[in-house]
Amino acid sequence: MKISLTVNGERREAEIWPGESLLFALRERLGLPGSKNACEQGECGSCSVLMDGSLVCACLVLAAQADGHELVTVEGVAANGGLHPVQEAFAETGAVQCGFCTPGLIVATVDLLARSREPSDDEIREALSGNLCRCTGYAKIFDAVRLAASRA
Ligand code: FES
Ligand code: FES
Repeated sequence: MKISLTVNGERREAEIWPGESLLFALRERLGLPGSKNACEQGECGSCSVLMDGSLVCACLVLAAQADGHELVTVEGVAANGGLHPVQEAFAETGAVQCGFCTPGLIVATVDLLARSREPSDDEIREALSGNLCRCTGYAKIFDAVRLAASRA
């Protein structure tokens, strides 16, 4: 079946199998490998994207369900080929080690700061509770979110 959707501001079409996930379609049909596939079970958040402005795990959404909807992936958070302030903050604070969790954390943090300009530590903890990181111990990630918030 064919789906038509808006991804990072561009109208895109893809030929998909009806049972495949949005994550698969983004990575394999639409050439957007930024969203990572770590668990494919909605547990790790590495595949987080915005669908009509809401944070979702792309591995839990059928590609067919995204037909006609608007997606923002990590490739689309920054304008004009530069880095988004959240991406800059993650790089500056050393919040990226292996980087596998980073795209999902970036999208989740962009979503958080759109809702709360000065999030408390509890708000940060809650907002990122669906994003697992095996490397950093989370302290640097908190530093990155606080830095990005201070510049927002
Ligand atoms: S790959 Fe989607 S939540 Fe882990
Ligand atoms: S930096 Fe490696 S999983 Fe988070």
